[in-house]
Order: sequence, then C-alpha cells, then structure tokens
Amino acid sequence: MSTNAPSRARKWWYGLPGGRVLRAALRQLRIGIRDGELRDRLPDASIGEGVVVRGIDRLTVGKGLILDHRAYINCRGGAWNKRGGYVTIGDNSEIGPYCALWGAGGITIGNNVHLGSHVSISAHEGRQVKPEDVDIWKPLDFEFAPVVIEDHVLVCSGTSIAPGVRIGHHSIIGCGSAVVKDIPPYSVAAGAPARVIRSSVAPATSAITA
Ligand SMILES: CC(C)(COP(=O)(O)OP(=O)(O)OC[C@H]1O[C@@H](n2cnc3c(N)ncnc32)[C@H](O)[C@@H]1OP(=O)(O)O)[C@@H](O)C(=O)NCCC(=O)NCCS
Repeated sequence: MSTNAPSRARKWWYGLPGGRVLRAALRQLRIGIRDGELRDRLPDASIGEGVVVRGIDRLTVGKGLILDHRAYINCRGGAWNKRGGYVTIGDNSEIGPYCALWGAGGITIGNNVHLGSHVSISAHEGRQVKPEDVDIWKPLDFEFAPVVIEDHVLVCSGTSIAPGVRIGHHSIIGCGSAVVKDIPPYSVAAGAPARVIRSSVAPATSAITA
C-alpha cells in the first residue's frame, strides 16, 4: 500500500485520556440527531437503527414504508451527475437491513416491493479507467441509467441490481443474483447474471368448454 496517501487530520482531543470515550459519545450524539431528523422527515415510515439517507430532498416515499436497520439510501446529486438523482418508493414497500440504494441516476421502486437484506441497487456505474490514465486524483467518469422495480416484486437477499434495469411486476429475484438485464413481469429469475427460470403468467384462457 502507498504511504503517500494523505491521512485525515486528527482532532486535537484524540490523544487525551478518555478521548476514545468522548469520540464514542459524540458519535452516538450524531447518530441520535440524524435518526431524529429522519423520523421527522418520514413520519409515516417505520425506521430501524442506523438508517442513513443522503439527499433526503430527493427521496419520495408512499405510505407504510419500512426502512430496516442500517439501510443506506443515497439520492444525492452533485456536479458529477449534473445534480440529478432521486429515489422514489411507493406504498407498503420494504427496504431490508443493510440494503444500499445508489440513486444518482434515479431509482423508482413501486408498491408492495420487498427487498431482502444486503440488496444493492445502483443507477450509475464508473467507466473503466483507460490504460493511459495514471493520475490517481483524476475523477472517475460515470454513466447513469434509471432503475425501475415495478409493483409486487420480491428481491431476495444479497442481490445486486445494475443501472438501467427494469424488473417487471409480480416477479421474484432469487438470493445472491446479479440482475444486469430487464426481467419481464411474472418472472422467477435467479443467478449471476440473473436469468428467468420460470414464469407465473397464467395460461391464456382461450379454450372455453361448454
Ligand atoms: C429463486 C427461488 C425463489 C426459486 O425457488 P424455486 O422456484 O423453488 O426454484 P428451484 O429450487 O426449483 O430451482 C430452479 C433452478 O434455478 C436455480 N436457482 C434457484 N435459486 C437460485 C439462486 N438464488 N441463484 C442461482 N440459481 C438458482 C436452481 O439451481 C435450479 O437450477 P437447475 O434447474 O439447473 O437445477 C429460490 O431459489 C430463492 O433464491 N429463494 C430465496 C430465499 C431467500 O433468500 N429468502 C430470504 C430473503 S427474501
């Protein structure tokens, strides 16, 4: 590892006796303030411990939202994404523990959508660094594409969803999947990359017997 990396400036009280206790207390205070603000902004939501929302002005939620412990939702924009970015979540939807939603390119989650634990959704991705680029301080180039999860979808734990993907309504995505292409409605899809393994569309009822 390089030893030239700049280190974060240490606060003056770090070396004092009891500094560690003071740091822990300040951290708890910060977490408390942050949790309180979040509950004020989302009064109808059920919010677990340690939930982090960045750019809450770009978050729109419906009724009965569950944000489980340690979920991380980043709706923020900046110069790097032309100040775009949003996360929209419909009614009766659930973001499981330790999920990470990166909404710089826009994420729309419908009604009655359930994300298991450790589900990651990103609406942006970094372009591969060119071989001639050797300056470690040069910012990454990004591509943005909105992610849409339609109504009544269940995304099982440990799944990653790539930018630009649309998951059709009434689908289920198996645990540990990598969803890199659209999934049609009524699908059971799984794997890395996720493929449709079954469809639950009811057969056409054209055969009518007297
Ligand atoms: C996707 C899922 C719902 C499908 O269940 P199922 O309909 O009973 O599917 P099957 O067990 O019959 O498997 C069908 C095929 O898909 C494969 N498959 C199933 N789940 C898979 C997964 N998560 N990843 C990769 N492949 C998977 C099976 O290996 C099988 O392949 P094969 O036909 O080549 O043998 C289930 O496997 C699953 O992932 N459940 C998640 C449970 C979970 O994480 N719950 C907690 C959070 S919500």
